[in-house]
Amino acid sequence: MKKVLLIDDDVNLCKVFAHQLQKNNFEVITAHNGKEALEQFQKQEFDIVITDIQMPDMNGIQVLKEIRRHNRSVIVIIITAYGSIDNALEACRLGADDYITKPFGQEQLLFIIEKTMRWRRLQQENTQLKQELMDKHQFDNMVARSAKMEDMLRMAMQVAASEATVLILGESGTGKELVAKAIHYNSPRKDKSLVTVNCPSVPDNLLESELFGHVRGAFTGAVKDRKGKFESADGGTIFLDEIGDLREELQAKLLRVLQEQEFERLGDSKPIRVNVRVIAATNKDLDQLRREGKFRDDLYYRLSVVPITIPPLRERTEEIPHLVDFFVNRYGKDRKIEVDTEVLSILQKYDWPGNVRELENLIERAAVLTTSGRITKENLPPDITKQDAQVQNSTVNIFEEGLSLEEVEKRVILETLQKTNGNRSEAARLLKIPRHVLLYRLKKLGMERS
Ligand SMILES: Nc1ncnc2c1ncn2[C@@H]1O[C@H](COP(=O)(O)OP(=O)(O)OP(=O)(O)O)[C@@H](O)[C@H]1O
Ligand SMILES: [Mg+2]
Repeated sequence: MKKVLLIDDDVNLCKVFAHQLQKNNFEVITAHNGKEALEQFQKQEFDIVITDIQMPDMNGIQVLKEIRRHNRSVIVIIITAYGSIDNALEACRLGADDYITKPFGQEQLLFIIEKTMRWRRLQQENTQLKQELMDKHQFDNMVARSAKMEDMLRMAMQVAASEATVLILGESGTGKELVAKAIHYNSPRKDKSLVTVNCPSVPDNLLESELFGHVRGAFTGAVKDRKGKFESADGGTIFLDEIGDLREELQAKLLRVLQEQEFERLGDSKPIRVNVRVIAATNKDLDQLRREGKFRDDLYYRLSVVPITIPPLRERTEEIPHLVDFFVNRYGKDRKIEVDTEVLSILQKYDWPGNVRELENLIERAAVLTTSGRITKENLPPDITKQDAQVQNSTVNIFEEGLSLEEVEKRVILETLQKTNGNRSEAARLLKIPRHVLLYRLKKLGMERS
């Protein structure tokens, strides 16, 4: 049951409305002056305060100010006399949720109460969702258990606090988007929006309008004015994913936004000013593109003031058991899933062209496939076990005995020839060298008769 503090020096009015509110399932306490009201407010918890403005000694505005000093969440509704709307507006500016004008009836009062309660609920939900979103993008929700990743995260955390433009580099699936989000949600702009544009996923001719907006008639199909992503991100952050795919003309426009925070909508000459932080990412070698003349030098240098490079998974295989644990928890839901040590050792030997995304997909799949609550070798996709088998069958065992490169070559050639039943042309094809090179190597290594 919601509890209401009803404050009015008109004793009769208090009595009538208290009665009506009680009939509608509210608990009501009344007070007839400011001092009495604040005493009540200190003594117990209220959900809603309804206060008159005009009262002897302490008026409603002062009551409101006093309440708001200690409590931001209680709903406050102001009762104002007909014709003194200015007072009511002033009260709303000071933190009242709404006002109601005298004279009013029961229905009106209930309506205002309902409305403010609904509004408060939405606000609370919104704050909660934002909080959840932020928690989700905390750096500590990301597995980083290798020296390389820890260095990378330290750098990202530092840069998050600043206003600097960030360029995130890394192969596909290494977590570029995850890091971009973490940077935004740990930055001073965290309460503003993070707007993401995946450059290659927007058709080339529409990307400019997507980024900068357009005015009606700018091109066929532009039937009304439209805001671009840079305007939507005003005050916040824009994440430009796969920036390496941005065409020349847009590169120039982007450079201008970075330098002057200014651009025009397509088909318009009026400059628009925004305050946007840019985070860009690419899995391409941007420096290479620059050297090939496909990416502007000036934009490259502007973007790469603070480059953050995420290492590929194969360079941090010590993290694989931690990542597996993390994803098993995520996809196992309430089930506790065990992972065979054999599986972990297979996963650590694989080279992960799709990086963490590939590992995540694999665990998700395995968690679904396992019926025993245990992920075994049988739950792994064939290409991974195949690669492992190749490694295991190989005669090369460097770690235990140590071995010369020449010996390695000998063994590999020998093994290939065994596989092809001595067919040298076929063996040369498998070793990806011309036949005459194989013959030469055989001679050199003293293996002619094999
Ligand atoms: N260190 C990590 N800890 C936990 N999850 C991770 C980590 N790195 C990546 N992931 C997960 O892997 C998946 C791929 O990450 P993300 O989309 O950020 O990669 P990306 O580098 O942007 O890839 P692409 O270049 O393909 O767009 C996501 O589901 C992400 O949550
Ligand atoms: Mg991505």
